[in-house]
Amino acid sequence: METIVEITNLSKEFKGKKAVEDVSFSIQSGEVVAILGPNGAGKSTSILMMLGLLHPSSGEVSLFNQRPQEQKVRERIGVMLQQVSLMDALKVKEVLALFRTYYPNPLSMEELIRLTGLQESELNKRTEKLSGGQKRRVSFALAMAGNPDLVFFDEPTVGMDSTARKEFWARVRQLADAGKTVLFSTHYLQEADDVATRILLFNEGKLVADGCPSTIKQQLLKKTVSFKAGGDFPKERFLTMTHVSDVYEEKGRVVIQTEDTDHVLASLFTEGTPVSDISIDKGRLEDAFEQLTVEQGVS
Ligand SMILES: Nc1ncnc2c1ncn2[C@@H]1O[C@H](COP(=O)(O)OP(=O)(O)OP(=O)(O)O)[C@@H](O)[C@H]1O
Ligand SMILES: [Mg+2]
Repeated sequence: METIVEITNLSKEFKGKKAVEDVSFSIQSGEVVAILGPNGAGKSTSILMMLGLLHPSSGEVSLFNQRPQEQKVRERIGVMLQQVSLMDALKVKEVLALFRTYYPNPLSMEELIRLTGLQESELNKRTEKLSGGQKRRVSFALAMAGNPDLVFFDEPTVGMDSTARKEFWARVRQLADAGKTVLFSTHYLQEADDVATRILLFNEGKLVADGCPSTIKQQLLKKTVSFKAGGDFPKERFLTMTHVSDVYEEKGRVVIQTEDTDHVLASLFTEGTPVSDISIDKGRLEDAFEQLTVEQGVS
């Protein structure tokens, strides 16, 4: 398999503040990778550096084993940035036609028009007259203009309604089926889980986890066993158990955070701990994500 993206010890500082810190990973052809992280995690900064639009403070980026600025590389990538900016003075059709001329093997005009999902009358409108959602669709079509092998989408679905969102992800799946390599950023865990084959979890400029969605979920999801304790609960003893990550009290109940709820239940019974009203909670990804960002000190 061909290595499409290779990032080595990439860092970016803005006025002494680290936006991206010592990030390394590589992406193989055909992967659909989500860069997942909260606001300010360093997603856009990383993407801009991968595209060669922002100079790294240190570290290396290579796309298709070349520098991202090379013309040969540019011809093979498509980009939808977080801030959509289209050329205001031009009609939609004209922008599409112009972008086709930038690439050696562009998609047909018909295909590009189809990708915008716009009607003939709208295609003759100047781009500044489009709604936010329509602009995003044009921006998507422009990203696809050169029939790219590698595409970057930075927060692509922000501002899209749920129909547009579904359509967008259906198109991304088609790209993946056609063997394209896709890299997108999002703060929606659900999107990353639904669409990506791999998640790069960013927080405070650092890559904090890298793996397939199910592995990342397993790492993130904290299951709990909670109950009412019939006396003094031997908190310390449970805290020392290997699969227990935390024990705390909440709303008059003892909560044991664990990756192995069966084991905790067995321990409760073998220790003869007087407990009642036991409940097992599998944990929600959203909660886990919040917890992770709190733990990492993001406010
Ligand atoms: N041009 C810039 N000048 C100064 N600081 C910047 C600049 N661009 C980004 N930053 C800072 O770098 C950090 C990472 O920003 P970045 O835009 O990469 O985050 P993000 O993960 O894309 O967030 P969001 O989800 O809000 O888009 C933030 O603290 C941000 O304030
Ligand atoms: Mg961003």
